[in-house]
Amino acid sequence: MERIKNAWSRHGWKMFGPVALLNIKHRFKILLSPGKFDAKSSVDNIPGVETNKSVYLSALGYTHEYGAGGNAYEPIDEEKFITVIRSLPIDPSTFCFVDLGSGKGRALFLAAKIGFNKVIGVEFSENLHLLAKKNIEAAANSWPNTDRMEVIHGDARDYAPPDAATVLYLYNPFDAQIMSPVLKTWEKSMSTRVHDVWIVYGNPTEAALFKHSPSLEHISSIAGFAVFRRKNLRRAE
Ligand SMILES: C[S@@+](CC[C@H](N)C(=O)[O-])C[C@H]1O[C@@H](n2cnc3c(N)ncnc32)[C@H](O)[C@@H]1O
Repeated sequence: MERIKNAWSRHGWKMFGPVALLNIKHRFKILLSPGKFDAKSSVDNIPGVETNKSVYLSALGYTHEYGAGGNAYEPIDEEKFITVIRSLPIDPSTFCFVDLGSGKGRALFLAAKIGFNKVIGVEFSENLHLLAKKNIEAAANSWPNTDRMEVIHGDARDYAPPDAATVLYLYNPFDAQIMSPVLKTWEKSMSTRVHDVWIVYGNPTEAALFKHSPSLEHISSIAGFAVFRRKNLRRAE
């Protein structure tokens, strides 16, 4: 009940319905296939690479103090990823791609293949970070642009945005207590830098934070993602 009250006060009546519906659909999908939420991807056909198996929060070792507010590992569906990234009117070769909560690295592989000039993943769980590293090493000779991929073990709140045009990708990584300071860091960065920034946010339970941001404009909703772009690009230029 407390969660519902919080969500209502965070999202307001306009956003509460769609967000609640997304949440319910998401929970059902996981409940119907416990422990093996299946979103197969071509990434898992690379010899030595595994990104498919979900990892529950309990297995990530998150507790009330450590990692509180973080969500479990669940990989993105490849088709959804491609749909949302291809919908952006950008040339990926001139953009950096950042995944906050990168898990085993599936989105990083897909972004590298699409041709982003730099692909960065930040992951809080050491186990998942090490698995992502192992995956990237295993794929070095059989997947395009693995040399552009970098994984960082750390908290998304401590990550400083790159000084470059960037697509920030968030797939259901954490709740408002983490998202709020993360967004503040990105807003601060946008206020002093001139680069274009797009944010694609999947299962966007905290979308209201982004919709109310003075730095961002809501562009579209596609394939379960909310898409935002930084405002005042011309003024900054
Ligand atoms: C739903 S998974 C997303 C996986 C990946 N981005 C993808 O699209 O396939 C969410 C991930 O966020 C990570 N996470 C949660 N809290 C975090 C934090 N504060 N900083 C960095 N990563 C975090 C979790 O460990 C988990 O791996």
